[in-house]
Amino acid sequence: MKIHIKTYGCQMNERDSEALAGMLIEAGHTMVDVEEEADVLLFNTCSVREQAERKAKGKIGYMKKLKAKNPDLVIGALGCMAQRLGNELLNELPHLDFVLGTGQLHTLVPLIESIREERRQVASIAESADVLTGMGNHYRPSGDPSGFKAQIAITRGCNRFCSYCIVPYVRGREISREQADVVAEARMLVEDGAKEIMLLGQNVAAYGWGGNINPPPAGVSPFAELLEELDRIPELLRIRFTSPYPTYFNDRLIGAIASSRTVCRNIHLPLQSGSDRILKAMNRQYTADGYRQVVHAIRQAIPDVTFSTDVIVGFPGETEDDFRMTRDLMNEVGYDNSFIFKYSPRPGAKSAEIADSVPQEVKEERNAVLLEDLKKRVAASLRTQVGSVQEVLVEGTSPRNPERWSGRTGTNRVIHFLPDSGIRAGTLRRVRITRAGSVSLFGELL
Ligand code: SAH
Ligand code: SF4
Ligand code: F3S
Repeated sequence: MKIHIKTYGCQMNERDSEALAGMLIEAGHTMVDVEEEADVLLFNTCSVREQAERKAKGKIGYMKKLKAKNPDLVIGALGCMAQRLGNELLNELPHLDFVLGTGQLHTLVPLIESIREERRQVASIAESADVLTGMGNHYRPSGDPSGFKAQIAITRGCNRFCSYCIVPYVRGREISREQADVVAEARMLVEDGAKEIMLLGQNVAAYGWGGNINPPPAGVSPFAELLEELDRIPELLRIRFTSPYPTYFNDRLIGAIASSRTVCRNIHLPLQSGSDRILKAMNRQYTADGYRQVVHAIRQAIPDVTFSTDVIVGFPGETEDDFRMTRDLMNEVGYDNSFIFKYSPRPGAKSAEIADSVPQEVKEERNAVLLEDLKKRVAASLRTQVGSVQEVLVEGTSPRNPERWSGRTGTNRVIHFLPDSGIRAGTLRRVRITRAGSVSLFGELL
C-alpha cells in the first residue's frame, strides 16, 4: 500500500514517524509524499498545547474530502492526541478509521492490514512496554541531503509530572532502552552514513534510572556511560541530546560531556520559570538558585558551552514579579535560543484544575518581551564570534541562497560561507567568521 505520514509535535514524534515508516517499508509498503496518492493517511499527533490538537483535528477533518472521492482510503490518528482522546476522537471525526495510541505503535502494520479487509472503527490505546520493539527501525531515504543526521530515542515516557504537562499521561511511564541496543543502533546508523546522532527522550539525562531517581546520586550516571560508549565509535563526529531535566546534571555527567570528543557544547536546559513560587506550583523539582548552580557547574567544566531553554509564560497565578524573575534569569544565563510558550491548560494535567488566570493579552505581551530580549541577546552573542575560527559540520546549500553553503558549530550556531570544490555535506570544516547577522554568522572556509 502507499502510505503518507504527517507528523505534529516534538522530535520524539518525528522519530516515531521515522520508525513507523521503517516498519511499514519492511512489511512491503511504500511511503509517498503526496496525500492524494496515498491508500493510507496517517497523522502522528501532539497534545502538548490546545493549539497543537486544534491543528491536527482541523487537518484530519479536511481529509473527509479525499475520503469522499476515494472510499477505500484508510485514515488513522496516531500518537499523543490519539492516546488522550481515544474513542472520543472517533466520534468527533467519523471518517477516521482508527486511533493508535503511543503504547501501541508497534501494532500499526497488522492493524492497517486488518482494517483494509474489515472496515470498522478501531481504537487501540493500551499502554504497553512492548512498544520498545520497533523503536530501532529507521527509514533513511537515499539522496536525502540531511542523511548524515540521525536520531535515536533512548527513553520513552516521563515520570516527572510537571503540573502543566500532558506528556506523562499520553506517553506513559518512563522506560529506558538497553545500552547495548542503543550502541548497536548507533553503529548501524554510522555504517549507513550518519555523522551526527541526536539522542532523544522526554527526560533524556534520566536514562537508565528506571524512572525513579531524582536527583541522581553524585558520581553515578548511566547516561554519561552511554555517551562514553558512543564516543568510541570512530566515524561518529557529533552527539546531541534533548531534553534533559536540570536536576540530572551531576558531576559525573558534566565530566563525561566535558571530556567527550563528540558531545556538542550546546545544552538545552528547560527552565520553565525563574520564580520559585511558580516552579513549585509547576512541580519542577528545583529552585531558581538550584538551576543557576547547574548552569554554573556546566560552565566551569565547559567554558564555551551555549544554552537553550523552554519557558512558559502565563502559568496560573504568574504575577509581574514572577515574570520579571524569569526575564532576569534568562538574561543572566544568556541563552542562545529559547522556546517560549504561552500557558495552555491541558485537561487531565494537574494545573488544569486551577483557573487559567493570566489573561491572553498578558501572555502575548510577556511572550513578546522575552522574544525581544532573545533577539538582542542572540545578536550580541553572534557579534562576539566575529574574527574567531570555528569548526562546522557542513549541512549543504543555504536555504535562502543556493550559492552559499552552511554548517553548524558544536555550539549550535549556523555559519554561511562560499563553498570550495572539496565541499561535502556531513564533513567537518574550519571557517573564519567575518560577519554576524541577526540569527546566523557569515565566514570563509579555511
Ligand atoms: N520533556 C521536555 C519537554 C516536553 S514539552 C522537557 O521537560 O524538557 C516541550 C515544552 O512545552 C516544555 O518544556 C514546556 O515549556 C512546554 N509545555 C508543556 N506543556 C505546556 C502547556 N500546558 N502549556 C504551555 N507550554 C507547555
Ligand atoms: Fe512534561 Fe515535565 Fe516530563 Fe518534560 S519533564 S515531559 S515538561 S512532565
Ligand atoms: Fe507533543 Fe507528544 Fe511530543 S504531546 S510534544 S508529540 S511527546
